[in-house]
Amino acid sequence: MGPTEMYIDGARVGAADGRTFDTLDPATGSVLASVPRGAAADVDRAVTAARRAFDDGTWGAAVAERERSRILLRMAELVRDRFDELVELEVRDCGKPLADARGDIDEVAFMFEYYGGWATKISGDIPPVGPDAMSLVVKEPVGVCGLIVPWNYPMLMAAQKVAPALAAGCTVVLKPAEQTPLTALRMAEIAETAGVPAGVFNVVTGYGPEAGEPLLTHPAVDKISFTGSRDVGIHIQRTCAAQLKRVTLELGGKSPNIVFADADMTGAIPGTCAGVFGNQGEVCSAGSRVFVERSIYDDALAAMTAEAAAIRLGSGLDPATTMGPLVSAEQRDRVLGYVDVGRSEGAHLAFQGDVPTDPALANGYFVAPAIFEATSNDLRIAREEIFGPVMTVIPFADVDDVVRLANDTEYGLAAAIWTRDISRALRTAKAVRAGVVWINDSQPAPSESLWGGYKQSGIGRELGPYALDAYLETKQIYVNLGGR
Ligand code: NAI
Ligand code: MG
Repeated sequence: MGPTEMYIDGARVGAADGRTFDTLDPATGSVLASVPRGAAADVDRAVTAARRAFDDGTWGAAVAERERSRILLRMAELVRDRFDELVELEVRDCGKPLADARGDIDEVAFMFEYYGGWATKISGDIPPVGPDAMSLVVKEPVGVCGLIVPWNYPMLMAAQKVAPALAAGCTVVLKPAEQTPLTALRMAEIAETAGVPAGVFNVVTGYGPEAGEPLLTHPAVDKISFTGSRDVGIHIQRTCAAQLKRVTLELGGKSPNIVFADADMTGAIPGTCAGVFGNQGEVCSAGSRVFVERSIYDDALAAMTAEAAAIRLGSGLDPATTMGPLVSAEQRDRVLGYVDVGRSEGAHLAFQGDVPTDPALANGYFVAPAIFEATSNDLRIAREEIFGPVMTVIPFADVDDVVRLANDTEYGLAAAIWTRDISRALRTAKAVRAGVVWINDSQPAPSESLWGGYKQSGIGRELGPYALDAYLETKQIYVNLGGR
């Protein structure tokens, strides 16, 4: 399982009070490893180390950008060297199929390459202010960052924050989700091997209220970057307001997936299904509200049902598996609860698959894919994030109708549009209030580009150069050249 101790100030440590908790294999329900149950005292040690490493210039000020760049590129190389182990660890800890985990870890390596490149290219500006002065606008690291990540893409979500933060010159305390702490602990080992100095990168494992909360209130933390549920996001924003900590929030969604009648169905049907059922539906940007133009509704529903019926549930480690278990018993119960909600509010359950019959998987947290037909966007299954393999299909009449429906949500993370008509595609893309819009695709999130939500899907942006801003302050240095 690799290292199971936390990583604080360059040392492998247990929790100060010696407590531990278990992380499980969601395919079998069995214990994978025991890891430290971090709490305020551990967070304080980690933050103190990160503060020292920031303030004494161990990372941000004294280490040349080139050295930071080289270290991040070395991390990328080490991720590639350990690719198979990391893939297996991720599959075992969070349940996703091998092919999905390969995609994640490959992107983790690229993330360190990409931001390794940026470390030497962060520069400011010299706006003109008249002949007798010079104004230098410079970028500086924001300081000590608390990075709180979820369990659906454990190592990828961690890398998505760690890589730009380190490139910007920040020092960090990473708090992985309690369900999936193992690849974060591996990342610490990789950072150390790559030459990240002690104190710059710390990992504290544990539960949100115990190991996450102290990061929000610790006066030596400058910035919190969080990916997870909207409710915890609101709590973080409110708590961080007390010290005006900088906050980046990547929250959930109820993203529309719009299929126009003229779409190329050989792409639209599998793409739409992958957008809801991929990663077991445990995706913040899942296109879980599927709007289908009325004239093709029956055919599209039949085709999506056939696609869903071909999904093969099983252990993520089995190469034939296309859908693994949900991450925890709690998440399984929450998702099954929504299937009951859909039935009780009168939606038609058009399809529901089977869970695996293999006795070895009898205690796994499997939920079979389900497709609901809804006649209204007002049902709870059309409004609330389910975060599991549950699709809600709703018919629409025309562009105006579907744009209104698509925007009738508190969220605004993503949207997918399937059509051959480029004008209609772009017109719809402009009208949808969401941070990411895909045309004739669903879910790609290239690290070079941009990610983030409108409305209650978040605050701030990640990926690409945009993520760097989240870890930088901007300063003006004004020089009087007139000698007066
Ligand atoms: P969560 O939002 O509670 O957990 C995400 C992270 O926040 C974890 O590391 C957790 O330990 C931490 N956390 C929780 N409470 C905290 C606190 N008071 N202070 C600091 N950190 C805290 O999400 P959870 O409970 O695992 O899942 C519930 C629902 O949230 C899911 O069903 C899904 O709808 C949504 N979710 C959305 C994600 C996304 O990618 N946008 C990822 C995970 C969950
Ligand atoms: Mg686990």
